[in-house]
Formats: sequence, structure tokens, C-alpha cells
Amino acid sequence: MHFLNNLVIPESGERLTLLYYLLAFVSTMMVTYVSIAAVGATLSLYFNRAGRKRGNALYHRFSRDLIDIAIPGKGAFAALGILPIVTVLLIYAQLLFDTNATVTNYIAASTILFIVGFGFLLAYRYSFRLEGFIESYRKLSDSQREEIDPASSIDIHSMEVSAHQTRRRAGIFGTVLLWLGSWTFLGGTVSALGGAAAEGGTNYAAVLFSWTTVLSFIHFITAALIIESAATLFFFFVWDGGIGIKDSNYESFVKRFAATTALVFLLAQPLLIFVDLATIPSTALSGLVFGLGGLTLLVVFILLHLFYTMLKQTKVRLGSYAFIGVVIMVSAWMAWDGVSFSQSNSAHYKLLASNYDTMLANLPTVAVQKVSGEKVYSTTCTSCHRFNTRLVGPPYNMVLPGYVGRLGALEDFITNPTQVLKGYPPMPKQGLTQEQVHAVAEYIMNTYLAEKKNGTAAYTQ
Ligand code: HEC
Repeated sequence: MHFLNNLVIPESGERLTLLYYLLAFVSTMMVTYVSIAAVGATLSLYFNRAGRKRGNALYHRFSRDLIDIAIPGKGAFAALGILPIVTVLLIYAQLLFDTNATVTNYIAASTILFIVGFGFLLAYRYSFRLEGFIESYRKLSDSQREEIDPASSIDIHSMEVSAHQTRRRAGIFGTVLLWLGSWTFLGGTVSALGGAAAEGGTNYAAVLFSWTTVLSFIHFITAALIIESAATLFFFFVWDGGIGIKDSNYESFVKRFAATTALVFLLAQPLLIFVDLATIPSTALSGLVFGLGGLTLLVVFILLHLFYTMLKQTKVRLGSYAFIGVVIMVSAWMAWDGVSFSQSNSAHYKLLASNYDTMLANLPTVAVQKVSGEKVYSTTCTSCHRFNTRLVGPPYNMVLPGYVGRLGALEDFITNPTQVLKGYPPMPKQGLTQEQVHAVAEYIMNTYLAEKKNGTAAYTQ
């Protein structure tokens, strides 16, 4: 992703603080949405299969409702999934400007995996609609069918079989791609933690299969299950009045499943946070890192309480609090990541800051372009002059001795040539600017004097 380096603004490290807030914010959005999509799709696949095998209608319905929420449509996916990840990509490019860090490669790869995965899951979601159509077709009487399809060309059985196959394949591909995308993304953030120290770390396999990445992936999966559970409770029952479940059997099944899943994985969080702390490179540790880890733990305990209450009393109203709490948990986690990232890269920021100062100091000379006398000579004068031989005009080594110490006079002649030497035509006016005249006069004089000093200022007439 080298081209990204051309886009960034050279900036002093301290002024990049704002970008950290932005990074934490968009990462929270992205992690939340990707969790809902990846876990929602996985669970949907699982319940679809289990529902078919056991002929369980609740499972089947849950499978369809889950994917409807996980994959909301192209617009929402672009806003919630793609926009944040591209923003993250650009922020990293800016933050790690001037290092050989490869984090942007990981993030670009995961963006592609997400987009393709999402495409498959869209097909998976539509297959439920197709199924609905097939079902209603089956319910028609023979005479009704004949009306729609007089030639009886619709082979409903083979349609059902192919719909089923498409669903399975699209569902599996899409889900696997989303998980791979998340893993790659986490590999990127882990390589960014190595920061300037891991410069040029192009051994992607080593990063992806490193303990830190694998642990952080496990941490992500558990967090994603909690996020998805909270989202299920929120979107099924609270948001916009819920999805309108009238079947109380189904309702209590969904609540129990979501609340239990959340509880189980929340219980695993303290251990995972501790492991995270233990594996962070020591350069990344600071009081703030511990503080944010503590905050995450606190939110986890509050959430445990919330989900437990929901399980016992089935108070769905709490679904909003649970969802907000989960988003806070993710933000604390992302802020934590961000702080340890900036900590481990602080040396790099000092470098950026000093680069920035140098750039500022150099600005005036960069802005005013100097006219080069040598350039004027080679583009304008060489058609008629050389130093050592006669062309149209006389050799400089012959005429310049008369101008030594009289640069002003030389400039006057170049600006307004007058007839001087016998046997030469007059020199035409060159139409140069004052600056160009000054530069070229200085250049030919200095060149002549240098040649004279070396004893090479000879000429032939
Ligand atoms: C079209 C041809 C032509 C070009 C182009 C040209 N000159 Fe000349 N230059 C001449 C001729 C012819 C003379 C001799 C004029 C005379 O002695 O009256 C001359 C004479 C000179 C002299 C000697 C003046 C003296 O006092 O004897 C200098 C110095 C000089 N040119 C500098 C330049 C420089 C610098 C450039 C480029 C910016 C340049 N010339 C471009 C044709 C040219």
C-alpha cells in the first residue's frame, strides 16, 4: 500500500491525537457490525441445518430472522461495514507514515474479504425469500397452478433442491470469508502494535499464526458472540418495536438462547483481558492501558448482571441497556488497543514530529524556485556559444576576461547586446528575465574563472 504514503499529510505526532479518537470510534463501529454479521451468519447457518435435520420450525425461523438482521442490505453494509474499515485503513496510513509497517496491507486484504463475503451472504439471505415463494407455490391447488403455469414448466422440486444448494454454499463461503477477514484485520492491528519495531515485517504467515494474533482472534470471537447476543435481544424485541414476534414459544426460545450465550462468554472475559494484558509488548504498557483494561472489566461485570436479570425475569426492555453496555465495552476495548498502539509507536511519533519541524524550516526555500544559470546557458546560449571555440558567437574564454570584476556590465550586455567585435554579426536580444540574466552571467563567469584557475581556459578562434 505504498501509494497511500503519497496521500498522507506530514504532521507532528502530537497533532495526531485527534486521529486516535477517530480510530477508536470507527473501530468500535466496525467491530460491532462485523461481529453481528459474522456471528449472525454463523448461527443462522447452524440453525438452518439443525432445523432441517430435526424438522424444528423454531430453529428455521430463528435462522431466517438472524440473517435478516446480520445482513441488512447493501446501503447499511456500506455505511456500517465498508466505510469504517476504509477509514481505519486511511488512519493507519497516516499514523504509520514513513515506517515500513505493513498494517495497511492486512487491512486492505480484509476489506476485500469482507466485501466478497458479504456478497455471498446477500445471496444466502435471498434464498430464504425464494424458499418462501416455493412454499406458497406448493400450497396452491392444482387448478391455481395451471392458471399460473399452463405448460407446467415449473419443476418445483428441482427448484427447491437448487435453492437449498445455493443457500448452503453461499452461506458457508460468506461466513468463512467474514471470519477470515476479521482474522486478517486483527493480524494487522497486532503488526501495528509491533509498530516501528516490526518495520518491514512482511512475514504475513508468522504474524497471522503468532500467539498474539490467535489470542486476539479468540478474544474477538467471544466478544462477537456477546455483541451478537445483545444485538439479537435489542433488534428482535426493542428497536422500532421489535420484529413483531407473536409466538410466545419462539420469543422465550430466542431470549433464553441470547441471554445464555452472552452470560457464558462474558464469564470468559476477565481471563481473556488478563491474557491480553500479559501478551501486550512491554513498550505498549502504561497506566492508561491498565485503567482502560479495568474499565472494560467493570463494564463486563455490569453486563453480567444485566443479562442474568434478563434471563431470570425475561425483561426485554433491558435489551437496550445491554446493547449500549456492550457498545461501551467494545469502545473501551478499542480505546485500550489504541492507547497501547500509540504507546508502542511513541518513538515513531517523535520522529514524525522532528520530520515535521524540518519540513517547516525548509518551506521558504522550497517555495521560491531558484533560476539555474546552467539551465539558461544550456537552453538559450549553446546554440551560438561555447567556452573554448567559436560558433556563431565568440568563445566565452576569449571575451569574458574583459568582464572579470564587472558582472553588472556583463549583465547589461546580455540584456541589451551591442555590436562589439569585428568579424561577428550582432548578437540578437535574448528576451530573458532579469533573474535569468543574472543567473546565466554568474554561471558563465564562474565557469570561466574555474577553468582559468585550472589552466583549461584556452580557446580556438
Ligand atoms: C543567435 C546567436 C546567439 C545567441 C543565442 C547568444 N549569443 Fe552571445 N553573441 C552572439 C554574437 C554573434 C556575438 C558577437 C557580438 C558582437 O561582438 O557584436 C555574441 C557575443 C556575446 C558576448 C561577448 C560580448 C563582448 O563584449 O564581446 C557575450 C558575453 C555573450 N554573447 C553572451 C551570451 C549569453 C550569456 C547568451 C545566452 C543567454 C548568448 N550570448 C546567446 C550570438 C549569440
